[in-house]
Amino acid sequence: MKTQSAKELVPRFFEKTAHTYDKIVNLTTFGKDKYWKKEIIKKVPNCSSVLDLACGTGILTFQIAKKLPDAKILGVDITESYLEIARKKLKHYQKISFLCQDAEKLNLGQKFDCITSSYIPKYCNAEALIKMCLNHLNPGGKIILHDFTCPKNKIVRSLWNLYFVVLHLAGFLLPNWEDVFVELPKLIRETRWLDDYEDTMKKYGLQVDKQSLTLYTSSILTGIKKI
Ligand SMILES: C[S@@+](CC[C@H](N)C(=O)[O-])C[C@H]1O[C@@H](n2cnc3c(N)ncnc32)[C@H](O)[C@@H]1O
Repeated sequence: MKTQSAKELVPRFFEKTAHTYDKIVNLTTFGKDKYWKKEIIKKVPNCSSVLDLACGTGILTFQIAKKLPDAKILGVDITESYLEIARKKLKHYQKISFLCQDAEKLNLGQKFDCITSSYIPKYCNAEALIKMCLNHLNPGGKIILHDFTCPKNKIVRSLWNLYFVVLHLAGFLLPNWEDVFVELPKLIRETRWLDDYEDTMKKYGLQVDKQSLTLYTSSILTGIKKI
């Protein structure tokens, strides 16, 4: 799938799903989303500013704030209804703010020590996103990208395919999620995000590291900007 068509899926996937997102992501990943977020958090360095791209309802953003209570944190997302849910959770987190913008086109005129994102890479163009990240990253800063990957092992992949057939049927009961349940597996099968972003990070001189999670059903890619 070309990047453009992946990006076109974003309004279809996210315009009607904000209110149920937190429950659905936990249920449909069998709680693995929580484990994956913990692995992301382990990689967030002790630092004073973090930009969380495609922050959605703020699941990862608030976990970063718990780890770094004194850090300035900015969550950016393209879907206002997701940010509305995130803002409702703000309460006493004074150091978090949220902004509705396209991450690929971000031009904030400020730099951060760390840039995180869970589930954005497959929707974006690697070159555009990494260039934007580099413009917003301090020297020595770290980019942490996480997303789904298609399992390589044949048996695991068969079970993974079967699971999405079941999820497709569940879409009849949850009509707001039907587009996601039907089209997400195709998007994950076809995306080359991990290779594309790794190659792009290397091209721009970042020090790159990869971790596959839960039988390669998702992966984390990190890149450190040299000082
Ligand atoms: C599956 S949600 C993930 C939310 C959150 N990161 C989490 O892990 O719970 C994906 C989010 O990516 C956002 N998104 C997709 N493309 C984006 C872009 N180009 N710029 C900003 N946000 C984007 C969507 O609006 C949606 O809220």
